[in-house]
Amino acid sequence: MKDLFSDNNIQPADSEFSQKKRGSEDNVLSKSLERRSQVDTESEKGGESAKVQIENLRRQLHEHNYNYYVLSQPTISDFEFDKLMRRLMDMEAEHPEFYDPTSPSVRVGSDINKNFVQVTHRYPMLSLQNTYSEGEVTDFYNRVKKGLNEDFEIVCELKFDGTSISLIYENGKLTQAVTRGDGKKGDDVTDNVRTIRSVPLILKGDNVPRYIEARGEVLMPWSVFEELNAAREAQEEPLFANPRNAASGTLKMQDSKVVASRKLDSYMYYLLGEYLPTDSHFENMMMAKKWGIRVSDAMKRCRSLDDVFAFLKHWDTERKNLPVATDGVVLKVDSLSQQRNLGYTSKFPRWAIAYKFNAEKALTRLDSVSYQVGRTGAVTPVANLEPVQLSGTTVKRASLYNEDAINALDLHIGDMVYVEKGGEIIPKITGVDKEARFLTGDKVTFAKRCPDCGTPLVRNEDEAVYYCPNADGCPTQIKGRIEHFVTRKAMDITVGPETIALLYDKGLIKNAADLYTLQFDDLVNLERWAETSARNLLASIEKSKSVPYERVLYALGIRYVGETVAQKLAQAFPGIDLLAQASIEQLTAVEEIGGRIAQSVVDFFANPNFTEILTRLKEYGLQFALSEEALAAKTDKLQGKTIVISGTFALHSRDEYKAMILQNGGKNSGSVSKNTDFILAGDNMGPAKLEKAEKLGVKIIDEQQFLGMIGVL
Ligand code: IVH
Repeated sequence: MKDLFSDNNIQPADSEFSQKKRGSEDNVLSKSLERRSQVDTESEKGGESAKVQIENLRRQLHEHNYNYYVLSQPTISDFEFDKLMRRLMDMEAEHPEFYDPTSPSVRVGSDINKNFVQVTHRYPMLSLQNTYSEGEVTDFYNRVKKGLNEDFEIVCELKFDGTSISLIYENGKLTQAVTRGDGKKGDDVTDNVRTIRSVPLILKGDNVPRYIEARGEVLMPWSVFEELNAAREAQEEPLFANPRNAASGTLKMQDSKVVASRKLDSYMYYLLGEYLPTDSHFENMMMAKKWGIRVSDAMKRCRSLDDVFAFLKHWDTERKNLPVATDGVVLKVDSLSQQRNLGYTSKFPRWAIAYKFNAEKALTRLDSVSYQVGRTGAVTPVANLEPVQLSGTTVKRASLYNEDAINALDLHIGDMVYVEKGGEIIPKITGVDKEARFLTGDKVTFAKRCPDCGTPLVRNEDEAVYYCPNADGCPTQIKGRIEHFVTRKAMDITVGPETIALLYDKGLIKNAADLYTLQFDDLVNLERWAETSARNLLASIEKSKSVPYERVLYALGIRYVGETVAQKLAQAFPGIDLLAQASIEQLTAVEEIGGRIAQSVVDFFANPNFTEILTRLKEYGLQFALSEEALAAKTDKLQGKTIVISGTFALHSRDEYKAMILQNGGKNSGSVSKNTDFILAGDNMGPAKLEKAEKLGVKIIDEQQFLGMIGVL
């Protein structure tokens, strides 16, 4: 825990830019910048001008990056690399006039906020027809054969499962990186892409065409994905469903420093431009590799269908050992002139298809079933498995959902079970190999008692979930509620689950209100706690007293009261006493508050344990009413209007617009329907939403018009 708060956790100087660590440490480069004063600054040396020195350093570092990231063959030690990078960053800081966006030091990113600019693709970004069987692959092969009526070769390559990108190199320099968007137009994400180590900023060699587009995939490696999700889970932030979503979400982030810390990877699979070196896709990719572009080695030129099938078979198993996600094989006619001859259908090229692998499955043994209680008391069954490799990671646990799912599988301890990942974060058990069942263990029956406090569990009628009803006494639920209370979107107190557990175990906190009575002496006497950590925590707790009412309401952890419901309740009942006294009828009269939520709110305020905590929190000075400002901003200008927000905005964030809609009596909805009154559209409105809006004739307004409508412009 100490590390979280201590202010002296600086890396040892000699490993800071270490090649092994490059890409595995967040913000190491920026840390070095802060410490620049401690490092010797070598300025003009041997008569060389600063400009020449900077250029030399950049050239060397580009070369070493290429050796390391593209060839996987570093030629200098980590220590040497660190030294070169540090010297370059020092010199660049001293000579801002030589700033170059393609310098190897830009990998660190910058925290300037940006809205992405839309760019029209010079060549549209197409997608491929998917096929799922060898029969369909044979059909493709025969169509090509018939269409060309001459010899041809098929290049087989892996289909990487990330997000597509188009890299534009002009005179060998990366000038623009654009997402696929709708295929015709995409977002300019150049600054973010510059942070990806395997994307060369400058191409090598003297035969680089003066204009070239490299198309490929940006990927988040499995290991990074898992680390990221674990961190998000600890913060109770929503998890990414798969590395593809994580990669595309990351590319669209505003802050390229955060992008840099996410350690994205990339593979390029296609070149475009008027000055390509040869007529062969395969040869061009080999040339691209020489220029420093990251190209997968898993590429084969095939002369027959048998060669193609051998590739499919080989990679169906071999891909499981790759550090990144793949979901199939792409087959392309090798010759570019033959590609042109075959041409395109209305949607896809006729010269390429994608063959998709079956969802990965693994067979392993069910060792035991354990149960976890969440902060709301819901109990989740988890299967503990004999570790097995699946999609590049070791799977030890799988979700079992609920009692009904367990019964449907007729699960017994010791069973051989099939686990699938199917693009989800948590693998699931999809079946049992009953033939392999000879020494049957006990049938799995759902736990009768809470795994933590032993209280008998209850399952409400027409619900599939079991609950531990001991909300006030079950330690896991208590700690869970405090963990929820401190999350960023709630009270935003910087304290992690381990510290909460420690404070709880030491008897210092039994509920969220106790946080506000913590004393410096309590904390500083804890094992491994420094004064700084104690002071930081107390400051963060103090700061939370100004968190606005709707977030405090969310922080209370009332079952079914998420962020949006909390905002609605705060608008409808602008003070906690009003809310506490509200009847089911009054609550359900609020738009989108149904009986289930209303009952949960009423139950909460009827529980003396919770109301006592509330009273104390009020005493400590937390916000339990809408601020004057929020009250003054309340109008009914959008009364009865259902509004969908889509796209990105320049003047306010989406969350701010959401809050404005509620403040003015309107209703914010996620999807376009015939009930939508209008769409508040920013840039890059989703194509599906746009199409639907046009079909239904829903009015679209921009931010200026919206602000005018509520009278703030
Ligand atoms: S070729 C016109 N090759 O798969 C040819 N695409 O529907 C365009 N993808 O989102 C694509 N690996 O980003 C090609 N080796 C590969 C690929 C690949 C992944 C993605 C691509 C697109 C989708 C194709």
